[in-house]
Amino acid sequence: MSFTLSTPRKLLGLAVGMALSASPLLVQAQSDDEVKIGFIVKKPEQAWFINEQDAATQLGEEKGFEVVRLSGEDGQEVLSAIDNLHSQGAEGFVICPPDVRLGPAIMNRAEQYGMKVVTVDDRFVGGDGEPMEEVPHLGMSGYKIGEQVGNAIAEEMERRGWDPEEVAALRITNYELPTAKERTDGATAALLDSGFKEANIFDAPQQNTDTSSAFAAASPVFSKRSDFEHWVIYALNEESVLGGVRASEQYGLDPDQVIGVGINGSGAAFAEFSRETPTGFYGTVAVSSTMHGRQTADNLYQWITEGEKPPANTETTGKLMTRDNWEDVREELGL
Ligand code: GLA
Repeated sequence: MSFTLSTPRKLLGLAVGMALSASPLLVQAQSDDEVKIGFIVKKPEQAWFINEQDAATQLGEEKGFEVVRLSGEDGQEVLSAIDNLHSQGAEGFVICPPDVRLGPAIMNRAEQYGMKVVTVDDRFVGGDGEPMEEVPHLGMSGYKIGEQVGNAIAEEMERRGWDPEEVAALRITNYELPTAKERTDGATAALLDSGFKEANIFDAPQQNTDTSSAFAAASPVFSKRSDFEHWVIYALNEESVLGGVRASEQYGLDPDQVIGVGINGSGAAFAEFSRETPTGFYGTVAVSSTMHGRQTADNLYQWITEGEKPPANTETTGKLMTRDNWEDVREELGL
């Protein structure tokens, strides 16, 4: 185990250790004293979430606590992850839930075990449809980041000399997830402000927050609207915008007919920017998943060890990343 003498509980452990001198039993007692937390994510295969879990694990190694990485792709999986954490002696967990309405059920289970809970990215919603303010949360400032997406699209349309009257928008939506709605609402508002025609915005509601659900939602929209030659694409994240871009390619649009702007700035975007020729995926508003992972793990750790409850809501900001600057922004955000 690594040993950081920064907390009263650790100091106590050391004092007991010194008093009893080294016996095998004592060594066991000391390593049991190492704080253990869970980090549960809804999409364990997505680069954004892999990076969050990596960053939390790294912080744990630096500070001397253990992070158990778990996936929770549906309610059942989340509840068994919590049971599993409890049986391993974890004292709390950070979670990005697969469905924000699972909040009360998740809190119920956690409270039975006396575990502390912090949410990341997607905030729990209570039975009344309102955010569960009592659960500390850290996530994107959805509306503002959405506005950055809308502004980036409007600027690129202008640079390409597109007539706003003749441009269609593919808005890939997920209205069950409040942060997703805030993001696409912010982007829409900024686009309309720039003179975009409201009647030219077409919705593609996706079932999930990944590429394949976005692709499935986007394809029929292109076929129905064959009267447009220029398209802009936005959604809650870059994985979904990529689904829209892939659908535009399949439909037969060229990259110079499409401006897709995502959100996240994770491996999915890096792979796209690294392609030899540009695609319709013009850019993405990058947010530091490294910071999201580290900060939430640290907040929970402080809460467990010092009794300091983290702030109710922390909102993070982003920076536009394109093919031209992605490597610099990546470095700047520690991604
Ligand atoms: C949601 C999205 C993720 C990512 C996070 C960031 O969970 O599904 O792709 O954008 O928000 O907060």
